[in-house]
Amino acid sequence: MPDQQTMLSPQMEYVNPFRVMTVMNRAAEIERQGHKVVHMEVGEPDFPTALPIVNEAKNALDKGLTQYTSASGIYELREAIANRYQEKHGVRVSPDRILITPGASGGLTLLANMLVAPGDGVLLTDPAYPCLRNFIYMLSADPQLIPVSMEQNFQPTLEQLNQYKTDKTVGLWLASPSNPTGTILEKLRLNAASDWAKENGAHLLVDEIYHGLQYVEDLPSVLEVDDTAFVVSSFSKYFGMTGWRLGWIVVPEDFVETATILTQNLFISAPSIAQYAALAAFTDEAEAIFEERRKAFADRKSYLGNELTKLGFKISDNIQGAFYFYANISQLSDDSENFCRDLLDDHYVAITPGTDFGDYKAREYVRIAFTTSMQDLQLGVERMKAALA
Ligand SMILES: Cc1ncc(COP(=O)(O)O)c(C=O)c1O
Repeated sequence: MPDQQTMLSPQMEYVNPFRVMTVMNRAAEIERQGHKVVHMEVGEPDFPTALPIVNEAKNALDKGLTQYTSASGIYELREAIANRYQEKHGVRVSPDRILITPGASGGLTLLANMLVAPGDGVLLTDPAYPCLRNFIYMLSADPQLIPVSMEQNFQPTLEQLNQYKTDKTVGLWLASPSNPTGTILEKLRLNAASDWAKENGAHLLVDEIYHGLQYVEDLPSVLEVDDTAFVVSSFSKYFGMTGWRLGWIVVPEDFVETATILTQNLFISAPSIAQYAALAAFTDEAEAIFEERRKAFADRKSYLGNELTKLGFKISDNIQGAFYFYANISQLSDDSENFCRDLLDDHYVAITPGTDFGDYKAREYVRIAFTTSMQDLQLGVERMKAALA
């Protein structure tokens, strides 16, 4: 019997666990000991799924809509998403180009399998959402990490794209708004990225899963400038449906057939009840709830931003979307992992070290999520004050 190490694919060596999960497990342990932990590590809205969606799910259950759906998802939902692109972004996207996936995670799995081959290189920012690297490693390809700093709004410059590409580069994966940094790509930058990808024969993939949760007037979709780009999106964040496992991708016309074959093979279909429930996400009643929640996130952002600055965290004053501060702690500590561990163990405040999101200056940064109530944020701030005194 070979040992486990020989049985594992060699690629598994590169696939890291989320450090945020370690933080969450440790927080749960502390809670079992009877202490209240302030959770500022979690990347999901603290609000329950909006009632219109829950009611629609109950209806779907009562009607027995529990079978597989068509592989690319129910048509009404794809149509509703297409209408949203028209309404919010002024672009006409055929529902045929939209495929419903089990979360954005399912969409990223599909697109990685469709677009990336062993030995390829894919340009990503450092920091970025940790799974992106891992999807690429799983395909025996190489993430090509571009270090991005607060001074450049944590998005890559054209000079960097040219500097970090190699003859192996097949794709450029960006996020707007980004996790962990909360920054967006304005239309000019999307245009530049699109031109660069075309000139360099690379595909352009933009993760837009935090769309809706923005604090700027205009948050463009890459589809406004390039209908050959690939988009990943989700019902998890703005629509508050993390546990329902529902997302979508938009692919260029020529890729619809292959993408559909992949959905059949990888998932058969996304969860049926979640799909029927999500139809209610496009009603005025649901939209009013989402908008109220977005305002709550905006209030939390401004409160927490002020307090963190007073405490000595260096943060960008330009958090444009999502629900995170990616804060520089070099005035407070020389190691983000120790900083996060001590804050949790001694003061019961959970935040995530920058090392979850990449290597570049990762020990100087922490991610602080405002995915908890104002009352808890105030308690978190008080505790951090005590910790730093
Ligand atoms: C940037 C980004 N992409 C994708 C995902 C995966 O989301 P989903 O719940 O839709 O699978 C996340 C989750 O936090 C994320 O932050």
